[in-house]
Amino acid sequence: MSLVQSSGSHSWPDVVSIGDRQLFNIALDRAASVLSGGGLAVVPSETVYGLAANALEERAVSRIYEVKGRPSSNPLIVHVSDLEMARFCTSAWPETAASLARMYWPGPLTIVLPKSDVIPAIVTAGGGTVAIRWPGHPFFRELIARCGFPIAAPSANFANATSPTTVDHVLKGVGRLVPIVVDGGPCNVGIESTVVDLSHEVPIVLRAGMISRTALESTLGVSIDRLGEVSPAKGTSSQKPLRSPGLLERHYSPRARIFVAAWKSGNDLKRFCEANKIATDSTLVMSHEHPPEGFPNVSVIPQDPEAYARALYSDWHRADELGLQFIIVEALPAGDAWDGVRDRLLRACALDSKVR
Ligand code: TXA
Ligand code: MG
Repeated sequence: MSLVQSSGSHSWPDVVSIGDRQLFNIALDRAASVLSGGGLAVVPSETVYGLAANALEERAVSRIYEVKGRPSSNPLIVHVSDLEMARFCTSAWPETAASLARMYWPGPLTIVLPKSDVIPAIVTAGGGTVAIRWPGHPFFRELIARCGFPIAAPSANFANATSPTTVDHVLKGVGRLVPIVVDGGPCNVGIESTVVDLSHEVPIVLRAGMISRTALESTLGVSIDRLGEVSPAKGTSSQKPLRSPGLLERHYSPRARIFVAAWKSGNDLKRFCEANKIATDSTLVMSHEHPPEGFPNVSVIPQDPEAYARALYSDWHRADELGLQFIIVEALPAGDAWDGVRDRLLRACALDSKVR
């Protein structure tokens, strides 16, 4: 266990490791006791770290909104540890939900369905639907089962900041304001879950993630709309009405300004920087095909969507930690497997006019 100095209302968050079964059990006891007492805990999930509270307790959930500085109009995901708990939280369980749950749970998929009466209005921002996920991370799963109640958990970052994928990221943000932070190491998926809305006749992907729309379509045998797309030109979602507040433009963003560009050589990229008044020594370049010469901060990521998703937020956090002003991302390959990463990228630079 290590302690980290705080500038928040709790002077010392307990940072507990789960490195072996004994520590895992101790962390489980502590986190379960904080949550059962109506408190908040930061817990690892396979996607990003979550800021957890008892989803059935309005007071506990209201603390999540307070700590994150999240608008009360943006609903939370409710995490469950089995199908019975998922059905307890929902008032309808269509065959589509059963199929997706069979195929992808536990895992990085969130399903939106009509809510049951046990879920307080604060969790769903007053709406009639609830977003449910059975997470794959063994600690999170056991924690929910131990608590015996569903757990509301948004990503453990201040509103509109980049989601945390390590405890370091957590402790630079909301971690300072909660009594316990569970350290599960770097998150395996690295970006937030795919959110699919099954509460209407036609399923809609509200947020892209590492489970792709085509994968969901092949499981369901129907075509799925996609709402979560951002157009880089306009920086807004598609023409359809906003069904998920998390689809607001300029989301998931680092402080550094993000550009997307294609280049063949370091000289190409230098010309791009000159044209756009980008100081190369204050820039992180994220490359996957042409690592450029002559740039002080270059991240070389395998050209693979899963590896890329794991690296994405880590690199953004690193750029902010280094105080860099710019991030230049080498344009991503085409293809549905990259939709989750592309979505976060387009959102993060939605207000930048120079994005191509
Ligand atoms: O991977 C994840 O999903 C992580 C981990 C911790 O589970 N959680 C996460 O939560 O990313 P959050 O709150 O940062 O994002 C939840 C997204 C938001 O875009 C929110 O608007 C949307 O899900 N959402 C939640 N409930 C909804 C509902 N009933 N209808 C439509 N969208 C909803
Ligand atoms: Mg979030």
